[in-house]
Amino acid sequence: MKTNVLIIGSGGREHAIAWKINQSKLLNKLYVAPGNSGTSQIAKNLTINTNDYTELKQSILEKKIDLLIIGPEAPLVAGLHDKLSSDLDLENLKIIGPKKAGAKLEGSKLFAKKFMQKYEIPTADFKSFDSQNISQAKDYLQEISPPYVIKADGLAAGKGVFICNNIKNAVEVIDEIIVNRKFGEAGNNIVIEQFLDGVELSVFILTDGKSYHILPTAKDYKRIGENDTGLNTGGMGAISPVPFIDENLMNKIKSKIIEPTLLGLKKEHIEYTGFIFFGLIKVNDEPFVIEYNVRLGDPETQAIMPRIESDFLDLLLKTYSHTLFADAELNISANSAATIIIASGGYPEKYEVNCHVEGLEKIQNSIIYHAGLKLVDNKLVTNGGRVLAVTSCSDTLKNAVKEGYKDVKNIKFENLYLRKDIGRDVIK
Ligand code: AMP
Ligand code: GLY
Repeated sequence: MKTNVLIIGSGGREHAIAWKINQSKLLNKLYVAPGNSGTSQIAKNLTINTNDYTELKQSILEKKIDLLIIGPEAPLVAGLHDKLSSDLDLENLKIIGPKKAGAKLEGSKLFAKKFMQKYEIPTADFKSFDSQNISQAKDYLQEISPPYVIKADGLAAGKGVFICNNIKNAVEVIDEIIVNRKFGEAGNNIVIEQFLDGVELSVFILTDGKSYHILPTAKDYKRIGENDTGLNTGGMGAISPVPFIDENLMNKIKSKIIEPTLLGLKKEHIEYTGFIFFGLIKVNDEPFVIEYNVRLGDPETQAIMPRIESDFLDLLLKTYSHTLFADAELNISANSAATIIIASGGYPEKYEVNCHVEGLEKIQNSIIYHAGLKLVDNKLVTNGGRVLAVTSCSDTLKNAVKEGYKDVKNIKFENLYLRKDIGRDVIK
């Protein structure tokens, strides 16, 4: 039977998932809601408000959707999966993405920290505080040494983590979050944790709650400036695989992190179908969890999808028949991939939109994923901070990076910005 698929989301990540699913022999029709100018080339974009349950449900019924992939975290944390799966009209809908209980791994840093503590999953030591004990939070700063890592508990669009080098700044951050309510309810609680000094890496699994498959690993380049300087962004590039993950490290990640996480979910009676993105840091050859995400990463997905050789839709469908999922094979290419994000100058702060983007048609060897781009009068114009992602694949990371940078030279628009050092830190 052929499958109708709907992907919720509008970023480069969703374009990359659509790009991969579009290659499946099991696919009938592919929809993305709301999608972007890139997904419209390979799928049908649905111009619906995905936050409006009635509208979404109507589209799912009308288009006879079999499989729904929820791309971003917000609808998962808000309980979209729960609502859809308790709707008797949608009994046969398969959903990729956890229910509210599982999404708390990302939706509440405090929940995630307590979960890791309970199941002895390596993570930075921490203490949590709320408006009742702000002075204790400030006293606690005196007991620990800088840098101070302060996190708002709830979702803050990637902006809720602060690394402060001195107490004055740390106190300001605490006041901003708890007293001035910078993140609203997401800042009801804060977590102050030990600073871990190491190198970051991302590991992704697809799980049916029982078994799991490890997707290609990736490394994200989060800061706006070269050599990891300047403000944090959604991610300015990614590479896959991560060259320094050897068998020994991967075995530790499996036995100390992935498997205890799945066991913990089981013990807490939390069903989970979907992705878990482990944001890790390696400190002296030991992996620690910095954060859980309950979705794929952006721009990591743009780098990992081209390395998956197996039919990805087939694997996603099998999460709903556990034995088949456990026995499924996931083949990953030995090639390396490098993703370069092309951004609007000024991002992650103020930037211009509506700049005319040219030259995409000249790119021959790389995959282009659209993000903050839209089509106006048949012309592509910028419509966001991260405009597009260019991924190239080659036998070595060095070659992938080289080809990627050669290709991006074709892309032109006013105030275009990109980091020129993607992959440089790990290329030998
Ligand atoms: P998050 O939003 O939790 O991924 O945090 C954003 C970034 O803050 C991470 O990618 C790390 O670079 C940094 N970070 C978060 N927690 C820690 C920590 N405990 N030690 C060092 N760096 C951290
Ligand atoms: N690239 C990091 C994230 O998607 O959260």
